[in-house]
Amino acid sequence: MTDQPSISPGGAPDWRDGVIYQVYPRSFADHDGNGVGDLSGIIDHLDHFGPEGLPIEAIWLSPIYPSPGRDLGYDVSDHTKVDPLLGAEADFDRLVAESHRRGIKVILDLVMNHTSDEHPWFVASRASREGPYADFYLWRDPSGWDDEGQPRPPNNWVSFFGGPGWEWVPARRQFYYHTFLVGQPELNWRNPAVEAAQWDMVRGWLARGVDGFRLDVFNAFLKDPELRSNPVLEGGNSPWNRLDHRYDLDQPDFPDLIERFRAIVDEQPGRMTIGELFSRETALAAKYARDHHIVFDWSLMESPWTATAFAAAMDLREETFGPDRWPTMALSNHDRERQATRLSTSVARDREPDRDAIAKAAAVVVFAVRGTAFLYYGEEIGMVDVDIPREEIVDPPALLAGPDFPWYDRSRCRTPMQWTDGPHAGFTTGRPWIRVAPDAHERNVAREATDPDSVFATYRRLLAFRRTAGALQRGLMRRLDSGDPDVLAWLRGSGDEALLVVVSFVGEERAIDVGSIAPGSWAGRVGTHRQPSTVDAGGVLRLRPDEAVILARTGA
Ligand code: NOJ
Repeated sequence: MTDQPSISPGGAPDWRDGVIYQVYPRSFADHDGNGVGDLSGIIDHLDHFGPEGLPIEAIWLSPIYPSPGRDLGYDVSDHTKVDPLLGAEADFDRLVAESHRRGIKVILDLVMNHTSDEHPWFVASRASREGPYADFYLWRDPSGWDDEGQPRPPNNWVSFFGGPGWEWVPARRQFYYHTFLVGQPELNWRNPAVEAAQWDMVRGWLARGVDGFRLDVFNAFLKDPELRSNPVLEGGNSPWNRLDHRYDLDQPDFPDLIERFRAIVDEQPGRMTIGELFSRETALAAKYARDHHIVFDWSLMESPWTATAFAAAMDLREETFGPDRWPTMALSNHDRERQATRLSTSVARDREPDRDAIAKAAAVVVFAVRGTAFLYYGEEIGMVDVDIPREEIVDPPALLAGPDFPWYDRSRCRTPMQWTDGPHAGFTTGRPWIRVAPDAHERNVAREATDPDSVFATYRRLLAFRRTAGALQRGLMRRLDSGDPDVLAWLRGSGDEALLVVVSFVGEERAIDVGSIAPGSWAGRVGTHRQPSTVDAGGVLRLRPDEAVILARTGA
C-alpha cells in the first residue's frame, strides 16, 4: 500500500481530491432581509470557508435560476439567468470573483432533464404543434380513448413524485411526460435543437467563470425513442418502484451524449462535473464516472450506522469503481435526512445514541473514505432534521405521501443555517421562509466556534488535517479486519504516506490490536476527539465510545 502511486490521473484538476460544500441558497444566509437566503448572503459568509473556518475547495450552489419555485428551484424557467429572488446578475459575478479570490471554486447545479412549465420554451411548445419549440418536450398522442371519451396515456410511465407521468394538454390534443411534477415537463433530448440550446447555456456559464457543474438526474435525459412501456415488477413499495425503468432511464446512447457535454466543459482546463445518478445502482455510477467527471453513488448514504452496513457499502464501492475510477463521498444532501438524524436513529435499538458523537464519527468517514468528499451545509455544526407541521410543508410530493407512496418530507433538512443565537439564528432579519430549528440557540456556528469539543471544531480539525494528507486526498483504500465486528479499519495510501483509519460504531469502549492488523508503529493524528486515542506500547488502540481516529505510521 505504501508503495502505491498517486491515482490522480493526469489532467484531473487537484480540487477533485478535495472537499465540496453544498450550499442550499434559500437557506444559507439572507442579506436583503426578505426571509429567503440569497447570493449576497453567501458572499457575506465566505469567510466561513477561510482560515478561521472550513478549508474546502469548492461550493456547489443548488439551483440559482429563475423559477416559480414549485420544486424550489429545480423547476427552472430560464437556465441562463439568476433568480431575482436570490440576487442580481452582478451579484452572481461578484460571488464568483470573491470565491476565486479566496481560492474557492464555484459549481452550479444544472437542471437539464426538464424545465418549469413557465419556461418560454414550454409555453410555446404547449400552445401549438407548429413552430421552433413544438418538439422541445416529450409530446405523444393518446394510446386510445376510454368509454367516457377520455384520452388514455401513451404508456405506463409514472411520476417519481407520485401520480401519473403523463399530462393531457387539450390545445395540442396530446400528452407530455414529466418524471417529476406536472410543472416540470421533460425535455426531448433527441431533438438536436434542445441539445444545441443546452450547450449554448453551458458555455455561457463557463464564460462567466463557473468551475464545474452538478447535473441533476443526468441519466434520465434520454428516453427510449419509441417510448415503450416499462416492464412491471412485483412487490415495489410505490408505483415508481413497481416499474423496471428500462425505457425511461440509462439509454444505450446516453454515454455518448454525456461525453459531448464533457467535451464542452473540458474546452476550459481545470473544470469538473458531478453527475447525479437517478438510480440506486453503484455499478452505473462507476460506469459513467471518468477522471474528473465524477458521479454520485448512494450506497453509503443509504447505509444505517452499523459497521456491517458501512463495510458492505465500502467494499461494494471499492470493488465496483476499482482503482482507476474516482468515487464521490457524501452522507447527506438537500433530498435526504440530515446525517446526524439519520445515522443516530439507525443505530442498534439497544443503545441510546449520542447524536453529536455519531456526527463527528460520520465526518471522519466522509473525509477518510476514497472519493471527492461532499459536505451539506449545516452538517459541520451537527444540524438535525426539523419537525415541520403539515401546513408548513413546502415539498410538494410530501403532500401526496401515503401508504402506497412513502416520501421523506425534504423541508425537514432545508431549514435555515444556524449562524448565531440571535433572532432567526442570524439567518435573516426578516421572517424566514421556513422555520428555524428549535435548537439554534445552542447549536450555531458562533457558539461552536468557541468550543474546542464541538462538532464544528472537529470538522475544522479534520479538514485542516485532510489538506495536508495526500493519502486522504487521493490515496488508494484497503479495508482491514479490525478483529472487532463493531469497528471498521482501513488504510489509505499514496506515495510513501500511509494512514490508518479506525472507526467505532458503538457507544462503548473497544480495544483494537493494531499491531496484528497493520504492522508498524502508528500514532493517532486526528479524529472525533480533541486528543485522538493512540496505540500503546503493546500495539493496542483503546477507543472511547463512538470514537474514530486517523493514525499515521511513525516507523517501520
Ligand atoms: C433531483 C434533485 O436533487 C431534487 O431535489 C429534485 O427535486 C429532482 N431532481 C427534480 O429536479
